[in-house]
Amino acid sequence: MTIPFIDLKAQYQALKHDIDARIHKVLDHGQYILGPEVAELEDKLAQYTGAKHCITVSSGTDALLLSLMGLGIGPGDEVITTPFTFVATAEVIVLVGAKPVFVDIEPDTCNIDSRLIEEKITAQTKAIMPVSLYGQPADMDEINAIAARNGNIPVIEDAAQSFGATFKGRKSCNLSAIGCTSFFPSKPLGCYGDGGAIFTNNDNLAQIFRELRVHGQSERYVHTRIGVGARMDSIQCAVLLAKLERFDWEIERRLEIGAVYNNALDNAGIERVQQRPDRTSVFAQYTLISADRDSLAASLQEQGIPTAVHYPIPLNEQAAYQSFCCPDCTPIAQRIAKKVISLPMGPDLDHVHQGRVLSALEGYLSS
Ligand SMILES: Cc1ncc(COP(=O)(O)O)c(C=O)c1O
Repeated sequence: MTIPFIDLKAQYQALKHDIDARIHKVLDHGQYILGPEVAELEDKLAQYTGAKHCITVSSGTDALLLSLMGLGIGPGDEVITTPFTFVATAEVIVLVGAKPVFVDIEPDTCNIDSRLIEEKITAQTKAIMPVSLYGQPADMDEINAIAARNGNIPVIEDAAQSFGATFKGRKSCNLSAIGCTSFFPSKPLGCYGDGGAIFTNNDNLAQIFRELRVHGQSERYVHTRIGVGARMDSIQCAVLLAKLERFDWEIERRLEIGAVYNNALDNAGIERVQQRPDRTSVFAQYTLISADRDSLAASLQEQGIPTAVHYPIPLNEQAAYQSFCCPDCTPIAQRIAKKVISLPMGPDLDHVHQGRVLSALEGYLSS
């Protein structure tokens, strides 16, 4: 029997009563857009991260897009980011008319290499956008320090994969000027559709983001800026309110499962993505590094164990990003992209299923 790559059905079964009740409450009161669940969720998420403001939006992509729009970034501007990420990170930079400037990654964490950022800063650099890849924050203190000494460049953490993670005890999404997350169903905190949120401690930016998500409206039919329609539905907020009840347990499970994988892989001498001691990863993906990824994937698949690749092609090698490409300027991302492979992961991956993944890996190694 094939085990799920991420078991969202088991999670729903565990929370069914609360999720159903929360959804029905929305259906009953009928405030489907910006209903009371939206403000309730924003309060709870702000409290959880320690950020002063949380503004929910319609997706992680829109959270990033609104962040750039809110900072007034546009044509002629540059935004420094990593090429080793989901396409949305760079896509929004191009959508606002700015240029993504790609910086190579650390080979062990696969996060942007902060030591390479400063040399890419120019007078046009208007933001730095690190990604907390696989659920682990990048070197945010160092990135914030670089941004501060180069004219207080805003740092936007793409925390789509890292809600719940920490850096030196502080929560992801509240590690820099702006944090953006995604509530896509398979994310560490996922709803049952699209959703996302922006976090900031800046009152002025928070107000701008609130206006941007409702067509730049400061009050009903008064449009103070050009915005978009990017609200998160009350029903999706209701789902997350129910899911928050066991989120701490889920994070603990993710850490336990990650530690079991780490131990087993280290003992077997399998290369894997590393976690730094000053941060916790929520293991949005559990990723190892294998020179013979395709045959490993085929062998695991034969035994009912699905795998995935995040991500096979760095963004600066993608056809749509050719005009921003600097060939071979990110050699580590290019090399790692050919080798990464992710294993089943999620809070409901039980010992039996994880045991099956590990024995299949052992079997492959000894074959
Ligand atoms: C790093 C990263 N950024 C942005 C996004 C976009 O989030 P969404 O799918 O909610 O738009 C994702 C989603 O996969 C992501 O992994």
